[in-house]
Amino acid sequence: MIGDTAGDVKGAQDVGIASIAALYGYGENSEVLAQNPTHAAETTQDLCDLLCPDMPEGKGYFVTLEGGDGCGKSTQSKALAERLTQFGYTVRRTREPGGCPIAEEIRKIVLAKEDGGMCAETEALLFAAARAQHLKDVILPAVQNGEIVLCDRFVDSSLVYQGMARGLGLDWVKEINRAAFRDGAPDVTLYLRMDHEAAMARRLAVSQPDRIEQAGDSFHARTEAGFETLYQQEPDRFLAVNAAQAPEAVTEEAFGKLFERMVKGGVL
Ligand code: TYD
Repeated sequence: MIGDTAGDVKGAQDVGIASIAALYGYGENSEVLAQNPTHAAETTQDLCDLLCPDMPEGKGYFVTLEGGDGCGKSTQSKALAERLTQFGYTVRRTREPGGCPIAEEIRKIVLAKEDGGMCAETEALLFAAARAQHLKDVILPAVQNGEIVLCDRFVDSSLVYQGMARGLGLDWVKEINRAAFRDGAPDVTLYLRMDHEAAMARRLAVSQPDRIEQAGDSFHARTEAGFETLYQQEPDRFLAVNAAQAPEAVTEEAFGKLFERMVKGGVL
């Protein structure tokens, strides 16, 4: 019996079971303690330690969200963060390019509309540089701290946009990213799958496109095909979600698939 009143403890004693006084509740601590509970917990963490002494330390988890421009990643990241927080997880939302001050500076350069002459190699190297800083400053410390990191885009975006759509090749993009950082593979990637034309129409209804979003229909058709290719290559890491549904339905599907994976992976 876990309770914060003397009556709770007495009830446990009457039926012959152990009791834990929850000292963080609304009840008067002196009263509940005067009833001689079997144990007392000052915090919910004390309660966890009493009930599950062998439970492993909270394990962090690195989740990326990927998909074409306009597929709704930011909306879904926000909704998923709310859900996971309700379940008691500590969630860190972040995004690429950016997520920390130095990487946000790189973001301004790489997405600026006036930088139309930027070559594909510079673009890919800037994304990798921003990622190295972001991993070091934000993602790895948060995961180490037991947090669930939800990152809007990551290295798969470089593989698709620079490697496939810009034509630099998957191997070259993998190589520069390997050179930029060692650790940091996502545990799981939510792939918001959607037709690129419908996604772009949705994106343009919200605000002006950035330099990469302005790249034209055939470029975005290649990104759509690129994400499909990565998904076929690593069907276990990618959790595909139908992003063409209403936002609430997308959240339901994404959360269901993510949570199932987290439970299987022992992310408590
Ligand atoms: P952003 O405004 O964050 O768009 P979105 O909400 O669609 O993520 O802009 C990021 C743009 O940068 C987007 O068009 C994809 C592109 N991008 C790359 O080309 N390579 C990368 O490695 C990353 C992280 C993003």
